[in-house]
Amino acid sequence: MPKTVLIASDHGGFALKTALIPALREAGCAVEDLGPDCAGSCDYPIFADKLCARLLAAGEEGQNGAVLGLLICGTGLGMSMAANRHKGVRAALCTCEFMARMARAHNNANVLCLGERVIGQGLAQDIVRAFLTANFEGGRHLRRVELFEKQA
Ligand code: RB5
Repeated sequence: MPKTVLIASDHGGFALKTALIPALREAGCAVEDLGPDCAGSCDYPIFADKLCARLLAAGEEGQNGAVLGLLICGTGLGMSMAANRHKGVRAALCTCEFMARMARAHNNANVLCLGERVIGQGLAQDIVRAFLTANFEGGRHLRRVELFEKQA
């Protein structure tokens, strides 16, 4: 489990963000809610950038699973696109537990993206749990993930 979970959304993901926070705290994680603080219309890239900046500022902890991010919008698509523009951020849009587990185990994903309009709250909780409890396997997967850093 990470010691800190960063979480942010837009209006399309606000209800799911609000629902997930208590469960994350109950699981023993420190949660940093990076907004928004109401369900009014807002622009997801602003919140993706905010969370990625905080994750990258965590340095090694943002790379080794000690600090992980959750980004939620209506589909998860916009958040994943915006987050993956940041070097050092590996954001994975997941719609099932298997994807979430593999995103950590093989891709060393440090941000999970969810679509509030795509999955229900129960499945979202299970996906989040799978993401937070899986560990990066390293080895050949590390070599592949390191190749991201060589991409333009
Ligand atoms: C907002 O209506 C919606 O476009 C946004 O939440 C997200 O799904 C974008 O990818």
